[in-house]
Amino acid sequence: MGDTVTILGLESSCDDTAAAIVRVRGGAPAQILAQTVQGQGQLHAAFGGVVPEIAARAHAEKLDLCVAEVLRASGLGLRDMDAIAVTAGPGLIGGVMSGVMCAKGLAAGAGLPLIGVNHLAGHALTPRLTDGAEYPYLMLLVSGGHCQFLRVDGAQHFTRLGGTIDDAPGEAFDKTARLLGLSQPGGPAVEAEAKAGDPARYGFPRPLLDRPGCDMSFSGLKTALLRTRDAVMRDQGGLTGQDRADLCAGFQAAVCDVLAEKTRRALAAHPDLRLLAVAGGVAANHTIRDALMQVANDAGVQFLAPPLALCTDNAAMIAYAGAELFLLGHRDDMTLAARPRWPLDASSPAMLGSGRKGAKA
Ligand code: KG4
Ligand code: ZN
Repeated sequence: MGDTVTILGLESSCDDTAAAIVRVRGGAPAQILAQTVQGQGQLHAAFGGVVPEIAARAHAEKLDLCVAEVLRASGLGLRDMDAIAVTAGPGLIGGVMSGVMCAKGLAAGAGLPLIGVNHLAGHALTPRLTDGAEYPYLMLLVSGGHCQFLRVDGAQHFTRLGGTIDDAPGEAFDKTARLLGLSQPGGPAVEAEAKAGDPARYGFPRPLLDRPGCDMSFSGLKTALLRTRDAVMRDQGGLTGQDRADLCAGFQAAVCDVLAEKTRRALAAHPDLRLLAVAGGVAANHTIRDALMQVANDAGVQFLAPPLALCTDNAAMIAYAGAELFLLGHRDDMTLAARPRWPLDASSPAMLGSGRKGAKA
């Protein structure tokens, strides 16, 4: 087998059930041989957020179907795999357990090694899967469940430089959309409205910019949006389309300024990092993406945003991270546990509670 490894990866830590087969050949770009992601959006739509019980049940029902699908699509069998990699945390515990149980069954049945992968490591290593990025680099992970800066020095070597102390920015976008009667997921809806808006009409706060370091806060921003909306409605008896667009533009500009300034600080504090990579659904936002690209340009570092399908939750990133761990000699066994919390950087643990999308390490 030499330095070619083929890994089946499973992901079920939130509301996407996913499987993928990734092949890594020494020196060559990694190949995604097959992948599938089954979202659960419709199952949770009526509840305004992910319902952990429903998610876990759906994962348990869908995982083996996803595995069968990627094996069929790749034309490979389990005997062609070198290992089974699975998200072992952090995330909603029922979903993570579904994945770990499925992976254990496959590994035991096929006599394959088992590798537990940290979901955040999957995101953080994606620039290596998609573009062969070299260590070290700066990763900004911004989604509905995550928000953190990671210095990535190796597949098992992450330093958390800062992150949100409350909500993730995607959550704030979703809440803003809800408050303004826009559709879910809120990010794309708010971004579309903001196009016609004046970002300067309402002065939203830029939380924590007055404090040093890379920590961020977004929950006050959504409260500010609620107060401003209520004040406008009280004064005018309702919201016009322009008011809504201006509120969206003002909110988006505030999130953008905070992310850009904190990224500037992270790069300034780590001048040896020559690459800024982003991942997570919020990285799809053009205003935010452009601002981050500008920050990277100003600092003279490369900017990398992987294709959106690999920025959001998927199993290719888990299979890829599993391949890197496998090549480093890492193996788990049947005692592998599902972990609701699992900070990537144990020396700098998360300050967060468990949010809408599960534990945010
Ligand atoms: O990474 P992701 O698909 O799932 C997890 O959160 O794990 O991210 C989804 C989040 C949602 O909160 C969504 O509103 C946000 O990313 N999002 C955006 C945009 N597209 C998706 N936020 C801002 N602008 C966008 N264009
Ligand atoms: Zn994720």
